Amino acid sequence: MAVLIKSGTLITAAEVFKADILIQGERITAIGKNIPAPTDSTIIDAKGKYVMPGGVDVHTHFDLPMFGTVSSDDHYTGHKAAAFGGTTTVIDFVPQDTGPLLKNVELWHEKADEKAAIDFSFHMNITHLDSRVEKEIPDLINEGITSLKVFTAYNNRLRLLDGEIFKVLRIARTHGFLVMVHAENGDVIEILVKEALEGGHLSPEWHALTRPAESAIEAVFRAIMLAKQADAPLYIVHMNTTGGVGEVRRTRQMNLPVMGETCPQYLFFNKKHLLRKDGAKWICSPPMRSPEDNEGIWQALADGTLQVISTDHCPFFYDGTKPIEYEGEKIAIPGKELGKGDFTKIPNGLPGVGDRLPIIWTYGVGKKRITPNQFVQLNSTNPAKIFGLYPQKGTLVPGSDADILIWDPEKVIKYGVEIAQHCTDYNLFEGWKLKGFVEKVFLRGKLIVDGRKWFGRRGMGKFVFCAEPMVL
Ligand code: URP
Ligand code: ZN
Ligand code: ZN
Repeated sequence: MAVLIKSGTLITAAEVFKADILIQGERITAIGKNIPAPTDSTIIDAKGKYVMPGGVDVHTHFDLPMFGTVSSDDHYTGHKAAAFGGTTTVIDFVPQDTGPLLKNVELWHEKADEKAAIDFSFHMNITHLDSRVEKEIPDLINEGITSLKVFTAYNNRLRLLDGEIFKVLRIARTHGFLVMVHAENGDVIEILVKEALEGGHLSPEWHALTRPAESAIEAVFRAIMLAKQADAPLYIVHMNTTGGVGEVRRTRQMNLPVMGETCPQYLFFNKKHLLRKDGAKWICSPPMRSPEDNEGIWQALADGTLQVISTDHCPFFYDGTKPIEYEGEKIAIPGKELGKGDFTKIPNGLPGVGDRLPIIWTYGVGKKRITPNQFVQLNSTNPAKIFGLYPQKGTLVPGSDADILIWDPEKVIKYGVEIAQHCTDYNLFEGWKLKGFVEKVFLRGKLIVDGRKWFGRRGMGKFVFCAEPMVL
């Protein structure tokens, strides 16, 4: 059965043009003017609408155990929320537990495969390194995993030492992986947190005060220098300081293969939000910074210093003692209230997988901070290219998966928790006015979202193997 999307305005990473798109089976088979409709095809009139590739969010944490609870979106609810926000592919992080890496991957497949409602891939966290792990890393390529995340922070939990990061970078260079780094200074944070607790400073703003911007800038610089010494490419996750992106800009001007992402929360919020009564809603790592940093990150997106917008989606309930209704069921999962009276016990993370495209459209494209082409580059094409999913994902060309958004540029809505479909009780963009919104979403040719209607289902999302990463 074919679908013909007629007379839309296509937006790709490079062009804006009027055309029809023909979908046959799971793929785009033709793009052009006046494509004749095959018999039995469904015709969709997209006149006055934009047609774009589905979003690719390369930074999610579904069903992630943390601080005695778990992130509240699993691989079904998180995928559904992503789809309602126009995202059709996600890459989730596999935590490294004791035991072989491939066992960790198997466990993540057990959690994800039956629930997946959109397409997905995995990155592997490397949070413990020994000679066994070093030998096991290359086997991940056969599992379709070609990216490794390391941490310079979270002492005694996730952090690797600099020498270990250097070793991972060298393995990555030899075998064709991309190393992603969470760059903050774990030692500085450990000392400041201890002092804050001893001083009786327990409220949420101390989360930001104990994780200074300078410690992130220093760790970004250190990671870049480690990558240079290992002769390996590097991708810096959730960047949120003007100083940090300055380091990336300088390095890229020297033609070194360093790339970076930011997330919507770092474009709009700052540490003053942590002073609010409900400040715990904004707790994530790295923390909210300053309005000047928001501005510096916008500039880094506009001038190409940063290549990707992801979300670092890792939601928790604000009050996990009170159930919400989700698909007719009452659900309550312990969340931010676990840290009432002690900021170090507030689970780190925010909802966002469904917010990214609508928020960035209105406040990025609508405010002329980025162009419509940059919107597609940052949210779809670049992430697909960097993580080895292109051109199957992230673009509109014959042969690509028919992951397609029909976007209504005139739709005006008041956004918030009722519109977003995350399994949590709050939304950071509550009450924000949006102009332009997702109308229809196709996943490999199947209509999964139509307005507020959901046609997706558990298990219809497929695991996509990542090929060798690309340096942009
Ligand atoms: O607060 C966050 N970002 N939680 C998820 C883990 C991480 O470091 O990305
Ligand atoms: Zn991180
Ligand atoms: Zn993360």
